[in-house]
Amino acid sequence: MLATMDITINKAEGSKLKDLNLENLSFGKFFSDHMLEADYINGEWTNIEIKPYQPLLLSPSVAALHYGQAIFEGIKAYKDEEGNAFIFRPQDNFRRFNISAERMQMPSVPEEIFMDGMKQLVAMDSSWIPQKEDHSLYIRPFMFSTDEVIGVKPSDTYKFMILLSPTGPYYNAPMRIYVEEHFVRAVPGGVGYAKAAGNYGSAMYATAEAKKKGYDQVLWTDAFEHKYVQEIGTMNVIFIIGNKAVTPDLGAGTILAGVTRNSALTLLQEAGFEIEERSISIDELIEAYKAGYLYEVFGTGTAATISMIKELRYKDFVMTFNVDEWKTAPTIKKWLTDIREGRREDKYGWMMQVS
Ligand code: COI
Repeated sequence: MLATMDITINKAEGSKLKDLNLENLSFGKFFSDHMLEADYINGEWTNIEIKPYQPLLLSPSVAALHYGQAIFEGIKAYKDEEGNAFIFRPQDNFRRFNISAERMQMPSVPEEIFMDGMKQLVAMDSSWIPQKEDHSLYIRPFMFSTDEVIGVKPSDTYKFMILLSPTGPYYNAPMRIYVEEHFVRAVPGGVGYAKAAGNYGSAMYATAEAKKKGYDQVLWTDAFEHKYVQEIGTMNVIFIIGNKAVTPDLGAGTILAGVTRNSALTLLQEAGFEIEERSISIDELIEAYKAGYLYEVFGTGTAATISMIKELRYKDFVMTFNVDEWKTAPTIKKWLTDIREGRREDKYGWMMQVS
């Protein structure tokens, strides 16, 4: 209960906001005045504090730096036209955070710290929420192990934190995607469904190789045959094939259960599409493309929102799309933005108001 989990508040003396124009922001480069920090010690959460954003003092032996017990989430806050602050579907990220924690043998973070702490933090720094198109306040909860020990074992101590970053779009333009058929992101039984820091670190080599070839990101395929698509480095993927919205299913535990993925599927259903969550082979995509039925391909993610894909390359076969002519992805993106910014009815109860 929150009553027994008091959050100590230490306010910054001044605000750094006066030095920042909340327009045309790069993604994730700026941080608000405050952050939340809590420690897990002796089996319980303690030292729960909102304080000025500042560096951490850590021993170089903390276990997270060596063995990667580290997880995170990405959430966004918006303002409506009257200036009221809202957070988009934070309960879903809270649930996924603790699923990641369990997989990484870390303690769960109580709702009173994650949710109430986030609400208090966002309320304190609500003037940092940009109101420009494609901008928002990105919320980054994360947890890492802090035992000072070189032995490989789950840590006894952890730090949970929340940072706030006023931010612009993650991707500014339609993307070129390289279908990866050598490197692997996830296997059944692995950690693909967890938002584990290591999933991102281990993807960097393959992504860099794709970038050398002129691509923005890779589309991962299954580890055994490199035949079935999984997700794109920073986002889930949805294909519009005929009157269906088709996306890889969550069953194998190899992709993230994206909150934006789920929101986009809900809105696609509202728009009249049949939704199919299932295995999708690259051969099926090529066949649909050749037959003229692969109409649109787009990524979904908290950071990426809805990101159009203008090129998909598999070996020497290149699928190109004229995104300027698309109707579906732009509509879903607009509906989502309008819900977030209070211009469209929030009929699914996605927006949590911050008082
Ligand atoms: C997010 O979409 O929030 C993520 O965590 C992805 C990351 C690449 C920024």
